[in-house]
Order: sequence, then structure tokens, then C-alpha cells
Amino acid sequence: MVASWSTLAVAAACLPSFVRASSAANTVTFSNNNEFLFDVDGNQIDAYAAKINYFTTSEGSQYYLYGISFAAPGSTGDGPLKSYSSVDLVNWKYNGILSETVAGGRPHMVYNAATQKYVLWVNVDGGYQVGTSSSPTGGFELVNGSGMAALDPSVAAAGLIGADHAVASFGDKAYLAYATLNFADPRAGSLWPPIFQTMHLTPLTADFTNTTLQGWNVTSPAFDALDQQTESPDIFERDGKMYIVTSNTCGFCDGSIGLVYRADTTTPDADTQWKRDIVSGYSCGGQVEGVFPLTDPENGNVTYIWHSTTVPGGPRVGFSGHIFQPLQFGDDGSVLDLNCNPKKQWDVPFTPGNVSASYTGNLTEATDASPRFANYQPVCDSNLYSALYQTWTNSKAGTLRSVSVNVAAGNNNANLTITVFAFSNISDLIAPSYKYTLLGSATFTPDQLTQVFGTATVSLNVTVAEGQMLGFAFGEAGASGSFSLGNFIPFCHLEYTFATCEQHQDGNNGQLLLQQGSGQNSFRGLKGNISPVTVRHGKGIKFFATVE
Ligand SMILES: *[C@@H]1O[C@H](CO)[C@@H](O)[C@H](O)[C@H]1NC(C)=O
Ligand SMILES: *[C@@H]1O[C@H](CO)[C@@H](O)[C@H](O)[C@H]1NC(C)=O
Ligand SMILES: *[C@@H]1O[C@H](CO)[C@@H](O)[C@H](O)[C@H]1NC(C)=O
Ligand SMILES: *[C@@H]1O[C@H](CO)[C@@H](O)[C@H](O)[C@H]1NC(C)=O
Ligand SMILES: *[C@@H]1O[C@H](CO)[C@@H](O)[C@H](O)[C@H]1NC(C)=O
Ligand SMILES: *[C@@H]1O[C@H](CO)[C@@H](O)[C@H](O)[C@H]1NC(C)=O
Ligand SMILES: *[C@@H]1O[C@H](CO)[C@@H](O)[C@H](O)[C@H]1NC(C)=O
Ligand SMILES: *[C@@H]1O[C@H](CO)[C@@H](O)[C@H](O)[C@H]1NC(C)=O
Ligand SMILES: *[C@@H]1O[C@H](CO)[C@@H](O)[C@H](O)[C@H]1NC(C)=O
Repeated sequence: MVASWSTLAVAAACLPSFVRASSAANTVTFSNNNEFLFDVDGNQIDAYAAKINYFTTSEGSQYYLYGISFAAPGSTGDGPLKSYSSVDLVNWKYNGILSETVAGGRPHMVYNAATQKYVLWVNVDGGYQVGTSSSPTGGFELVNGSGMAALDPSVAAAGLIGADHAVASFGDKAYLAYATLNFADPRAGSLWPPIFQTMHLTPLTADFTNTTLQGWNVTSPAFDALDQQTESPDIFERDGKMYIVTSNTCGFCDGSIGLVYRADTTTPDADTQWKRDIVSGYSCGGQVEGVFPLTDPENGNVTYIWHSTTVPGGPRVGFSGHIFQPLQFGDDGSVLDLNCNPKKQWDVPFTPGNVSASYTGNLTEATDASPRFANYQPVCDSNLYSALYQTWTNSKAGTLRSVSVNVAAGNNNANLTITVFAFSNISDLIAPSYKYTLLGSATFTPDQLTQVFGTATVSLNVTVAEGQMLGFAFGEAGASGSFSLGNFIPFCHLEYTFATCEQHQDGNNGQLLLQQGSGQNSFRGLKGNISPVTVRHGKGIKFFATVE
């Protein structure tokens, strides 16, 4: 009955997803089925409309990822901005809020070699706010008072409003690409489109903190409905051409057309002819965030990595992940269709960062954990059960210090309780009258949880043996430490599907997810022998436990 988890054969050809391949140094693997990203402490990376840059500071080089936080209740994309860094694009360290003063929509950053400043551009109040800092992770000061950049005056004269944008630099030149919303366009529909928006491009001043007040449309010759609904851009250069990637009007949706514009020049002007490729009908269930180059240290070849905010658990933006894939180019510089096969993965040569910082944390140092890399999905059903129970086999003798579970709140005014216990075996655990050994518990009030999958941690101080079966119960707190039938608003957790490569690699490790139906406290079934606590076959909750 419950033994089925142990009978699965280990698939010989399993490969880990989104992990640096150990067989080849300087190679990063991207996988379409690894959407959620976590930092080294196990918290979901809370940065949407993310941008990745490779910068070299006095400490050395590394990759920086930053984007909009959606952790706070009711977040609408107006910040704050969160910042992370990594040398290998796998182990990300959280560097805190990017800026207290520059906060708004999608962030983009460029480095100006002449002023030795990092320049952060954020879209705010229909325009662009600019801050500078000597560090790419914080300390940004608004430029010239309010920090608002000046734009091509014809944009304001036409009643257009600046929206999603990108900035990118190429040597001593930099550009701003920005969507211009037209709320007065009579072609707006009752259902859709809500607005028309055309991408504009303008060169930046020499210090990259303002525009040159010029402005040109980025459009194919058709200037059709696709050209007039472009947003969420990024800019890159390749082989003497400028490329601008965009989605169509969508707003963190679960799939938008992906467009790539290209010009036969790296210094476009008003007369530049843009060619357009539709590279995906749905952008693999996402909206493009950006493109970043990875350089092969062996031969200098550059791979351009497209990445999207994807929405496995939308419409909540905080339940978004990201997908990454190398762009493929035709001989004429056109961009070929994205590959949205969920099983597809790519090994890409890249230059790792060389800073000598530590990229370890609570997750990477954990003793036992659900798979580090898996196709985690948000599940919000705690209100349907008296409790969910996640088990594992403890792999190290010592002192159990903590158990952490990735939890996101609903708009819930109830408390969450996580109770940690030891037990003999699964048969015993689900049998009537079985008493487990309580090791500890913690209750989390709504203000201790967020709208994204941060960790809820139970601190412990108990001796555990190698091979001992441990578990935790997860549910809405009831009176006096029990679980409540609930206020019908669930807490959300992350689940992976068992019998995947990742699970096999983890060796199963006694990890089973059990559920006890709401109010189910007696045998069930015609033979009177079915436990009210049943295995949720093939599933596991994202968690980790630390033994010292
Ligand atoms: C680190 O990498 C950067 C960028 O490639 C390079 O400029 C710098 O010299 C490197 N530093 C060390 C200590 O290797
Ligand atoms: C600051 O703004 C003033 C006008 O408000 C302008 O004259 C000046 O050039 C600006 N300085 C910079 C560095 O942009
Ligand atoms: C950009 O230049 C204008 C003047 O043209 C100035 O008013 C504004 O403050 C400048 N903005 C920034 C961010 O430098
Ligand atoms: C540029 O786009 C705007 C809308 O943002 C439109 O009104 C204008 O006609 C376009 N200009 C050209 C030259 O296509
Ligand atoms: C590097 O790029 C060059 C030119 O595009 C190409 O001929 C060569 O095959 C590439 N090398 C590798 C290892 O991909
Ligand atoms: C790491 O774990 C310790 C001990 O449980 C906890 O105090 C700390 O807050 C955790 N750090 C992060 C960043 O989650
Ligand atoms: C949640 O826990 C807090 C702190 O223990 C307590 O004050 C509050 O009454 C609890 N809320 C509910 C709905 O039980
Ligand atoms: C579970 O443990 C009990 C002792 O608590 C033992 O009698 C029983 O045989 C065990 N069952 C399995 C399936 O290992
Ligand atoms: C853990 O428990 C031991 C006694 O078993 C005690 O000496 C120690 O102070 C406790 N540590 C913490 C951090 O509570």
C-alpha cells in the first residue's frame, strides 16, 4: 500500500536540472522545468521582471540579479527592488533591498567607466528615475534632485506616458528603450487592448544619467498591432547589430508573444529600419524579462540567454518563476523560435565570477532536504486538510537545530503551526492510537509570512539519531497547539513530483507527503481498514532540516 515509493527504479540517464555540470567546469545548465529560483538560504528569489548583469568591482567579478519584490500583501509592481549575486548562476546570495530611494517598476543598471558609477534606471510615475552608486548592490543616490530623466519632448507633447524600459551600454554608448503608453488612443477596446504602446529608443548622455532628448520608434515597417503593443524590453548587441527584445501588452501574464527587433547597426537613428521576428507565441508561458550574454572563457564565444518571468502559479506574480534559454540565430542575424519543450535543457559555457565570497547558506548547509532542483509548483490546499505531514529519514546523528518549510500566506488572518516529530515507521504513524514523539513546534502569525515562498523555520535543540524517521505537520493553528479546520483560506507550500530524476538522485530518503482529511478521524472503507491519513502519492513538500 504505502510501499510503492521504494519500488521505483532509478533512471540511469537522469541529469540534474539547472545545476552546474560537474563533468565540465565553466558550464551552466539551464532547464525549462526548473522555474522557481531560491537563494542559498532557501528563500524564493523574490525578484520579478528580473535583470541579470555581469559586473567587475574591486572585489572581483560576479553576476547580479535584481528585480521587483512582490512579498508584501497587495504588491502591484512598485517595489521595493531586491538584489542577489552569484559566481556560478546557481548559488544566489541575497544582498538586501537595492535602494531605499530609487524604487518603482522594472529596474535596469549600467556601469559608466568614465564616472565609475553604477547607474540604476527605474520606471516611476510615467517617467524614469535615475540613481547612481559606487556599488551595484546598494547606496544609490538620486541624480540631480528628483532623479527624473528628461525625455524626447514630442513624447509628452503627444500625451504619451513612459512605461516598461531597458537601458544597456556598449562601450561608451548607452541607450534607453521605453514603451510609451497612449491612454487616449481611440482604438482602445472595451475588452482589449486597454492601451496602445510603441517602443521608443533614445541614446543616453555621456554619464548615462539622462537621455539626449532624441527619440525614435522601434517598429517593423508594418507598424501593426504587434508593433504598437510592445513592452518589457531589453537591449543587446551582436555581430554589429542592435537587438531589442519585447513582449506584447501583458503584465506578468502566463504567456505573451515574444518579439525581437534588430537593426543593421549598433548606433541606430531616426532612419533605422528594424526587422522583427516573432520568436514565440506564448514565450513558454511567460513574459520576457531580459537577455544577458555569457562568454566562453576558452574561445570568447558569446551565448545570449533569454529569460522570462513565468507563471506556474499565477495570477499571483509572487508565484512566478523564471526560465532561461540560449537564443539561436540564423545566418542573417534573425532569431529562431524559442524551444518551450518542458524537458529541454541546455549546457552553456560561461565565465564564472572570481570574487572570493562565500555562497553558502541555510539551504546549502542543510543536512536533509527535498530536492534542491525540481519543478516545484505552488499548492494552496492546507484548508482542505486537518494537516499535511512531510516525513524524511534523518541522515546524521547530532542535534536537530531547525526545520524550514517554504510557505506563502494567503490573505489569511489565521496563524500557521508547524510541528516537528519523530516516529518509528510509516505503518505505525498512520495506524490508530499511534503516538509520535513531539520534538518542537512554532506558530507563525500572518505578519511573519509573505506573499512569496520564504522559509518558515522551527528552531529546535534535540538529539536525533542517524536513520531516525522525522516529520513535520503543517496547517492552520487551532486552539491550544492543535490544528484548526480552518477559515477556508489556505496557506501555500511548494510541491515536487516524486519519481523524477531529482527525487531518484536524492535517494528518496524516506520523504513522503501524507494528508489527513478535514474531520477524518476514523477508519474508512468497506473493509474498515483504511487509515484517514493517506499518502499523497509521488509528491513532496519543499523543506530542509539542519543537524549539527
Ligand atoms: C576577475 O574577472 C574580471 C573580469 O573578467 C577580471 O577583470 C579580473 O582581472 C579578474 N580578477 C582576478 C583576481 O582574476
Ligand atoms: C540638473 O537639472 C537642471 C535643471 O533642472 C539642469 O540645468 C542641469 O543640467 C541638470 N544637471 C544634470 C547633471 O543633469
Ligand atoms: C535631465 O536633464 C534635465 C534637463 O534637460 C534635468 O531637468 C533633469 O534633472 C535631468 N535628470 C537627471 C536624472 O539628470
Ligand atoms: C511613433 O509612435 C507613435 C506612438 O507612440 C506614433 O504616434 C507615431 O506616429 C510614430 N511615428 C512614426 C514615424 O511611425
Ligand atoms: C566559436 O564561434 C566561432 C565563430 O562563430 C565558431 O566558428 C566556432 O565553432 C565556435 N566555437 C565553439 C567551440 O562553439
Ligand atoms: C538561517 O538559519 C538560522 C537558524 O535557524 C536563522 O536564525 C536565520 O534567520 C536563517 N537565515 C536566513 C537568511 O534565513
Ligand atoms: C495568532 O497568534 C498570536 C500570537 O500568539 C495570537 O495573539 C493571535 O490571537 C493568534 N491569532 C489567531 C487567529 O488565533
Ligand atoms: C514499524 O515499527 C514497529 C515497531 O514500532 C514494528 O513492529 C513494525 O514491524 C514496523 N513496521 C514496518 C513496516 O517496518
Ligand atoms: C540545547 O540544549 C542543551 C541541553 O540539552 C543546553 O545545554 C543548550 O544550552 C541548548 N542550546 C540552545 C541554543 O538552546
